[in-house]
Amino acid sequence: ATTLGAAAAGTGRYFGAAISSGKLGDSAYTTIANREFTMVTPENEMKWDATEPSQGQFSFTAGDQVYNWAAQNGKQVRGHTLAWHGQQPGWAQGLGGSALRQAMINHINGVMAHYKGKLAYWDVVNEAFADDGSGGRRQSNLQATGNDWIEVAFRTARAADPNAKLCYNDYNIENWSAAKTQGVYNMVKDFTSRGVPIDCVGFQGHFNSGNPVPGNFQTTLQNFAALGVDVAITELDIAGASPTDYANVTKACLAVSRCVGITVWGVRDTDSWRSGDTPLLFDGNGSKKPAYTSVLDAL
Ligand code: XIL
Repeated sequence: ATTLGAAAAGTGRYFGAAISSGKLGDSAYTTIANREFTMVTPENEMKWDATEPSQGQFSFTAGDQVYNWAAQNGKQVRGHTLAWHGQQPGWAQGLGGSALRQAMINHINGVMAHYKGKLAYWDVVNEAFADDGSGGRRQSNLQATGNDWIEVAFRTARAADPNAKLCYNDYNIENWSAAKTQGVYNMVKDFTSRGVPIDCVGFQGHFNSGNPVPGNFQTTLQNFAALGVDVAITELDIAGASPTDYANVTKACLAVSRCVGITVWGVRDTDSWRSGDTPLLFDGNGSKKPAYTSVLDAL
C-alpha cells in the first residue's frame, strides 16, 4: 500500500488525523488528508465550548463542516469530546453541583442526538485522571459533582446513541508502570465488571522527552484489551518525530488485535498544536518526513 490509510486497512485498522474546519479551504491540506487518512477527529469543533456556547443553545456549524468533509470523502469520524474539564463554555465553568451534573447530561444528549447514527466512536470522557502520581481523579468542576460523574456520562451516552462506540480518552497512560495508567485501568475494570457501558480506551500518545514512548506500551494496550474493550492511539504526536519512536508505536498497536487504529494529531507540522516540536508526519511544505516512511513500512 502507498498510503497510511490503505496500509492500515490491510491490517483491519484505520489511520486517522485530527482535522480543523478552518483548514478545509487549504487544498494542500485537504489533498494530503484525503489521500492518507480513513478516520477523522474534529480537532476542536465538537468540544463543549464549540457545540453549546450558550446553555441549551447548540451550534453544530463547525462540527458539521468537519463531519460533512469526512462523510463526503468516505471517512469515518471519532467524536471528540463530550465531558472534559477543558474547553468548557464560560457558563459551564461557572456551574457546580447538581446544576453542572444536569448540564453535562443535557450536553451529552444534545450533541449525541445531532450526530446519532453517524459517528463510529465518541470520546465520552476526556482526561479525568490526575497527573500527581496518586492514580486518582483530577480535581475539576465535573469531579466535584460526585465520583460517579464518569459512569453517568457513559450511561447517558449509550442511551443517546446505541450505535456509537463509547471511549474513555487520556494522555500519559501509555506506560504500564505509571500510577495514572493504573488508575484508569482500575476504573475500566470496575466499569466492565459492573456493566457500565464502555467500549474503548483512547491513548492520546502525546510524546516528548518528559513522556517518552515507553517500552511497555504494547503491554499496556494488551492489558486494557484483555478487559474486553477496544484500544486505539487517538492523538499521536512525538516531539522531533523520531522514525524509531513512530515505528514502535505503530508496532505496539499492530501487535494487539483489539487495537483498532491510530490517529495523528494533525496533518503537517505547521498544523500542530505543538508546531514548535515538529511532531507530525508531514512538514510544513506537505512533504513526507522520515517518520512517515517509518510508519508506512511498519504497517
Ligand atoms: C487541543 C487542540 O489541538 C488545540 O487546537 C486547542 O487549542 C487545545 O486542544 N488533548 C486533547 C485534545 O484531548 O482535545 C487537545 O487538542 C490536545 C490535548
